[in-house]
Amino acid sequence: MAFTSMVSTVPVLFFFFTLLLISANSSSLSHNIKVQEQDKDPFVGFNIGTDVSNLLSPTELVKFLQAQKVNHVRLYDADPELLKALAKTKVRVIISVPNNQLLAIGSSNSTAASWIGRNVVAYYPETLITAISVGDEVLTTVPSSAPLLLPAIESLYNALVASNLHTQIKVSTPHAASIMLDTFPPSQAYFNQTWHSIMVPLLQFLSKTGSPLMMNLYPYYVYMQNKGVVPLDNCLFEPLTPSKEMVDPNTLLHYTNVLDAMVDAAYVSMKNLNVSDVAVLVTESGWPSKGDSKEPYATIDNADTYNSNLIKHVFDRTGTPLHPEMTSSVYIYELFNEDLRAPPVSEASWGLFYGNSTPVYLLHVSGSGTSWKLHFPGKQEGRK
Ligand SMILES: *[C@@H]1O[C@H](CO)[C@@H](O)[C@H](O)[C@H]1NC(C)=O
Ligand SMILES: *[C@@H]1O[C@H](CO)[C@@H](O)[C@H](O)[C@H]1NC(C)=O
Ligand SMILES: *[C@@H]1O[C@H](CO)[C@@H](O)[C@H](O)[C@H]1NC(C)=O
Repeated sequence: MAFTSMVSTVPVLFFFFTLLLISANSSSLSHNIKVQEQDKDPFVGFNIGTDVSNLLSPTELVKFLQAQKVNHVRLYDADPELLKALAKTKVRVIISVPNNQLLAIGSSNSTAASWIGRNVVAYYPETLITAISVGDEVLTTVPSSAPLLLPAIESLYNALVASNLHTQIKVSTPHAASIMLDTFPPSQAYFNQTWHSIMVPLLQFLSKTGSPLMMNLYPYYVYMQNKGVVPLDNCLFEPLTPSKEMVDPNTLLHYTNVLDAMVDAAYVSMKNLNVSDVAVLVTESGWPSKGDSKEPYATIDNADTYNSNLIKHVFDRTGTPLHPEMTSSVYIYELFNEDLRAPPVSEASWGLFYGNSTPVYLLHVSGSGTSWKLHFPGKQEGRK
């Protein structure tokens, strides 16, 4: 990314420390979530990676989610114990096909059908499975499996059709931001042509089936790769004076934060392939709270600011400059610090909570002029 408007970085400005953590008024929250779900309003969910020593048992984990009023989660697999424990709760879940299963599923319809039988039909609708994310950042991390991606998606979809679950459960695949090139200004973004032979039919599939384009979008990495060019405040959704906003010279749209620019880059990239009816779902976004000496911006303050402001931004429902009418839902990366993940230090430090469910930091999210209020009650409770 190369932003046109450049300003020196300004130290992070904090809001109050009235830590209205995702807690308070749980009745108004659940009311809101119900209303949101009826209206298909945008929501904030959480990724649950499990490279955690002493991870809560499935039953404890589900209790924890309920205590935190977490109603949307994404798993990196389809853990049977957890799916069982989620039965008869309000928690909606995206399950995943790990990259190492793509080969088997993409090359055999019967393997795909048995995957659906074992991991979806066995639990739905008691467990509210909303989508299947097929692989993770396949094009950029395991390009050798890329030719199997669409066959796997189609076979899984066909198996859902056979069970008449295809309208309730969507099938898609999360992409890294790096499949897009020239992402700023967003009006010039496009998908790397190397992947057109996959992206074109994939987008046609998503359009035909009403499924979202899943994107893992990290302003943190944009900042790390463009230090001194992209102001930290733009990455953290901090208030900017108009002169610090990024202006897209082609559309004259003003961008007050990097995430919106990345989402609009995805819309423009799709439009370049003649697709304009597929919504962007942000399957991962977050900020690490700890890093090594080369990761000085991975701090508790920045992580707290990013995630708190991200939540507010979603619930403000202001969409993006290009699509003010459409606010993407976001799954925060991630619920727990995955202490077992390999270095750098930041890899183990994306979570809102330690594995034992004590908070790494307390989000400060409080609504002003909006009807929502999130709260994690008193004490505690919160992958690349
Ligand atoms: C899977 O089923 C689809 C649709 O019936 C068919 O077109 C495709 O050839 C099958 N794939 C394999 C690997 O058998
Ligand atoms: C597009 O993707 C290919 C395959 O990963 C990569 O080799 C190439 O460098 C990318 N193009 C650009 C301009 O980054
Ligand atoms: C998109 O539409 C334009 C105009 O109809 C056409 O020239 C172009 O080939 C299309 N691109 C794709 C990827 O379908």
